[in-house]
Amino acid sequence: MSLALDKPRQPRRPAARRSNGELYSWLFMRLSGLLLVVLVLGHLFIMNILDGGVHKINFGFVAGRWANPFWQAWDLIMLWLAEIHGANGLRTVINDYARKDGTRFWLQLMLAASVVLILGVGTLVIFTFDPNI
Ligand code: HEM
Repeated sequence: MSLALDKPRQPRRPAARRSNGELYSWLFMRLSGLLLVVLVLGHLFIMNILDGGVHKINFGFVAGRWANPFWQAWDLIMLWLAEIHGANGLRTVINDYARKDGTRFWLQLMLAASVVLILGVGTLVIFTFDPNI
């Protein structure tokens, strides 16, 4: 029985072209994770447990919350951190598991496109939400 692992597929770059990008990415995952604990658990508690839980959520509730810049900022920061943290995690997973260069390229491209789309639409909604429609 062989328990040998495949060699890492992440391409090795020559020393002159190495940067600290992966170090900052590693650090970002830890720092954003810490902030996400507060933002996501707070969000879960406020939206799903406090004051009748999920049943209280409707258009009026959202309109009331987003009338306050504090909750706009909370949701905006949570959106950006969760999206970039999740996508950066998935980038690592793709680099670890994609066997062919072509597969890796297309998966990373789709991931990048989804990040731009979600951040774009989400940010637009938070800033242009109109409670009077
Ligand atoms: C609630 C607080 C969170 C904490 C404390 C946290 C912490 C972390 C840490 C430290 C890593 C790096 C693990 C490693 O390098 O081996 C990581 C990876 C990851 N996180 Fe989070 N995270 C949180 C929330 C989230 C959320 C909300 C998402 C999705 C939007 C997410 C998606 C991921 C993914 C996809 C990875 C990569 C997994 C892997 O490498 O196998 N995390 N997380």
